[in-house]
Amino acid sequence: MTTAIVVGSGIAGLTFALHATRRGVAVTLVTKGAADHGATRFAQGGIAGVVFPEDRIEDHIQDTLTAGAGLCDEDAVRVLVTEGPTRIRELVAWGVAFDRDPAGRLLRGLEAAHSFPRILHAGGDATGLAIEMALLRAAREAGIRIVEHAFLADLVVHDGAVGGVRVRVDGRATVLTADAVVLATGGAGQLYARTTNPAVVTGDGIAAAMRAGAEVRDLEFVQFHPTVLAAGAPFLVSEAVRGEGAHLVDDDGRRFAFDAHPDGELAPRDVVARAIARTMTRQGGRPVRLDARHVRDLPGRFPSIDAAVRARGLDWSAAPIPVTPAAHYLMGGVVTDLDGRSTLHGLYAVGETARTGVHGANRLASNSLLEGAVFGARAAAAIADPSGAPRFDSLRSLNEHESRFRDGAGAPPFTRAALQRLMWDHAGLVRDADGLSLAAETIAAWRAEATAPATVAEHEDANLLLVAQGVVSAALARRESAGAHFRSDSPRADATTERSASLVPVGAAC
Ligand code: SIN
Repeated sequence: MTTAIVVGSGIAGLTFALHATRRGVAVTLVTKGAADHGATRFAQGGIAGVVFPEDRIEDHIQDTLTAGAGLCDEDAVRVLVTEGPTRIRELVAWGVAFDRDPAGRLLRGLEAAHSFPRILHAGGDATGLAIEMALLRAAREAGIRIVEHAFLADLVVHDGAVGGVRVRVDGRATVLTADAVVLATGGAGQLYARTTNPAVVTGDGIAAAMRAGAEVRDLEFVQFHPTVLAAGAPFLVSEAVRGEGAHLVDDDGRRFAFDAHPDGELAPRDVVARAIARTMTRQGGRPVRLDARHVRDLPGRFPSIDAAVRARGLDWSAAPIPVTPAAHYLMGGVVTDLDGRSTLHGLYAVGETARTGVHGANRLASNSLLEGAVFGARAAAAIADPSGAPRFDSLRSLNEHESRFRDGAGAPPFTRAALQRLMWDHAGLVRDADGLSLAAETIAAWRAEATAPATVAEHEDANLLLVAQGVVSAALARRESAGAHFRSDSPRADATTERSASLVPVGAAC
């Protein structure tokens, strides 16, 4: 019997586990915290898919390619969009109750850069939670072995092939072996001082793959969500709120998003996030405001956001609320083929951990849950029938940077907060060669002086440092601006209109 270990319990990991089990693979799912504590449960807006008769597969493909700034892999996008509707129907069968009108018809949400309102949502703005709970229930009913609070310390690699994982469970090191290991640990939002990602998202799977020698790519493409509450702890204010007609305004009450793009608040996310950053810089770092006063039934349509807004003592039906951008999603990751295979034998990656090519330089809203479902299922099929051959082009390695801080001397002391601030300031919404070089040298110094990690927190720090090095190295190497990777020193004409974009002072927003 084929055996597989999947690391991570979001939509990608659970979809893999359910499909692989159905195909006769013996699956063990290990997850770092409680099983429902990953990023999936925080997804608000919904899941995109061509499920309405007036919509067209070609239009969803085109919207995805356009948002990706010409850097998507078109074959991967075609797979995502054509297999998406089947995966969505499967979610319904597993018990996800997408919102419907009184006649039982699915409600249609609109989000930025979609040419059609094709976003399905559940619980108003709690789509991720509804999916997470339904999949976990299905996994438990299917008898899948789930090991919680098991931290991935490293991959077990023999003769260039991955054959298991080293995990720490309750402080004890354990080795689990299997025919295949599937990484579904999400991205690395905790690299940044402001993020929508939960605390567990520390790049563990991507870092383990890098240490093992798997190829990673596109790490420079970090998506910043434009609208996160700038009062109290960061809390996502879904793009669906702008899809329902909310406006962004500056200190003078002026709608500024149309200065950046003819689609205004519904332009691609990277454009809107940078328009907000520029406006904040102009107004001394103060957050911009999201005016949702004219949106109907805010508590009914957006119950979670409404509760978070009110918990901060604000009333968004009466006054615009303060918002800023925050790190949200990593487009790059472990390079895979269309079946989740990495460049290392026995190692697979799915969901945000993977770089399938579907997102290019900027992910289209609500394509992330879809990616987890589609490629989780495909990886299961590939592992159950391992006769297919992987498809890869060239292998690339990351550039190591010499540190100007020899043996760490002169670099500021390492703390996770210092790393997050460094990344926010120099590898965030707006980058240039000087800032990226400083970040590269500081990270190199911190890595050089780090001792072997012993605790989970130390392992997480080591993972964040390694992924940070990858992000900065890739951002230095890509000299032109593209999608979410914006170089203010880019020689390309298409970046000049945004040349005045500047850094959002993190302190000012909090
Ligand atoms: C949102 O609800 O705005 C986030 C959805 C996504 O990241 O695709």
